[in-house]
Amino acid sequence: MRYLTPGPVQIPKQVVEAFGRQPHFHKLEEFKEVFKEVTEKLSKVTTGDPIIIPGTGTLAVDAMVYNFIDPGDKVIALSYGEFSERLIESLECRGAEVFRLSVGVGKVPHPDVVEDFAKKVGSVAAIALVHNETGAGTCNRYLSKLRGVADSLGALLLIDSVSGIPAEPIDCVVDVIATSSQKAFIAPPGAAILYLNSKPRAKHTMPRSINLNKFLKSIKEWDTPYTPPINVIYALDASLSYILRIGLSNYHEMHKMKAEYLYSRISLKSIADEPFRSYTVAAFFTDKVDGIVNLLKSKGFVISRGVGEIKDRSIRIGVMGEVSLDDIKRVVEIVNDYVGK
Ligand SMILES: Cc1ncc(COP(=O)(O)O)c(C=O)c1O
Repeated sequence: MRYLTPGPVQIPKQVVEAFGRQPHFHKLEEFKEVFKEVTEKLSKVTTGDPIIIPGTGTLAVDAMVYNFIDPGDKVIALSYGEFSERLIESLECRGAEVFRLSVGVGKVPHPDVVEDFAKKVGSVAAIALVHNETGAGTCNRYLSKLRGVADSLGALLLIDSVSGIPAEPIDCVVDVIATSSQKAFIAPPGAAILYLNSKPRAKHTMPRSINLNKFLKSIKEWDTPYTPPINVIYALDASLSYILRIGLSNYHEMHKMKAEYLYSRISLKSIADEPFRSYTVAAFFTDKVDGIVNLLKSKGFVISRGVGEIKDRSIRIGVMGEVSLDDIKRVVEIVNDYVGK
């Protein structure tokens, strides 16, 4: 099977091998050395202090929300798909007063619209958004402009980039980025990853599992507040070496090239408008969801149906991981033969 999925993705062989070894006891120097190395490699991907927590993207997003937002804080949340809604769910659980800005699935609001909206709300604590909306194959490429909007409001910029970095670049300093190991980091699931460019500011309590101050304190000794996802850290060591060897800008281009082939050749309408089509997960409308997913599976290719509101009328094809242009060409051929060109 070839996994052209939104994640977990097709993982390089050396990453699978790194994952499959006897875990060190995490209090040993031997583990600390690997942990330090992985943290240093993560630092090369984007700005901010990286933190690894046992968990997946959902936990990374909750940790971001609970460490930076207090009950009653006003938050502007952009919404353009299922994972935007899950981010809002987390904010609402925390007790934030959420002001949702939505311009429809597959569309991204212009920063001027965000600024006007936020000014009307007033006293905004944060702007929160999904960088790469996996549910609709939509990438918000206004990050640096939104950084400017957040600065003009004195607000934080909080970003879910679970299916974005390191394949979709982040071109500005973001207060917090929440991501995870199993998508563009091409490792198995199990590590929630955060990049902090601001200190946790929430005063309200939270459980140890997501308390970033505890992680920041223990990392000074290359320690963790509780058992880390040891084998995922080994896998990340191998996947980060692979990514950094390719080089970040080549890594971005690789994804863009594969995704653009899909968008230009497949006989389906993409959910996202140009120039917001994702280069990690392409999403298309179709009324033949089961037919396409099942046919591709019978030919050895796993793709995903949609998610959330559009789950019965869309499919998603991931280009992350060890997916070649030949794999993509074959998938396009099979889909186009099936739907009729
Ligand atoms: C943008 C985004 N945010 C959050 C999540 C949740 O991540 P996980 O399923 O790893 O918990 C996903 C998962 O697909 C996602 O794509």
